Amino acid sequence: MELTDPFARFEGVYARACESTQAPYDPTAMTLATADARGRPSARVVLLKSFDRRGFVFFTNYMSRKGQELTVNPYAALCMHWAAIGEQVRVAGPVERVEEGESDAYFRTRPLQSQLGAWASEQSRPLSSREALMARVALLAAKYLLGPVPRPAHWGGYRLVAEEMEFWREGAFRLHDRFQYRRAGGVWQMERLSP
Ligand SMILES: Cc1cc2nc3c(=O)[nH]c(=O)nc-3n(C[C@H](O)[C@H](O)[C@H](O)COP(=O)(O)O)c2cc1C
Repeated sequence: MELTDPFARFEGVYARACESTQAPYDPTAMTLATADARGRPSARVVLLKSFDRRGFVFFTNYMSRKGQELTVNPYAALCMHWAAIGEQVRVAGPVERVEEGESDAYFRTRPLQSQLGAWASEQSRPLSSREALMARVALLAAKYLLGPVPRPAHWGGYRLVAEEMEFWREGAFRLHDRFQYRRAGGVWQMERLSP
């Protein structure tokens, strides 16, 4: 199964990563690389919130640097490393916004302060001071005192649709195992790569 189905393989590796990774390490943290219109890359950590055969979902501000880069160049790569189990997974492919309902549903699960933060922070834009940010949070807290906080239209999820996945397993003497999966049409092809 794992030889032909990278999602089944990911499920297994991710389950082991979640069981074995202890605080302060977060097994859902992953590096997301995007690139601008000129092909210049940028990378940062985001949290994996869900995955299935459609792809890997994270949430962010659509107007942030990553959001702007994904607007002009909707392709990205993910890299996850779990030292506790000696595994790395790389995923690459096109990125799409998740359905509004999915973003709404996830936004509702966030703590109130995080919901207010999504409104208050113009992510990736210059900010004059921390006090300015906290003042905005305080104003928003007063505004939404009585009601639920709606999801800002500029905040939501992205799904990276996997076209390539690579599983790296730590081996003795740097003789690691690498298995690269590539999707051609609906079919995944796997080959072993040199470490
Ligand atoms: C452990 C960790 C988890 C993070 N999770 C997220 C996340 O899920 N979504 C997000 O927008 N930013 C997250 N961040 C912040 C991003 O790394 C980054 O600073 C922010 O998204 C702005 O990136 P950008 O300017 O490239 O768009 C996280 C940072 C760390 C260190």
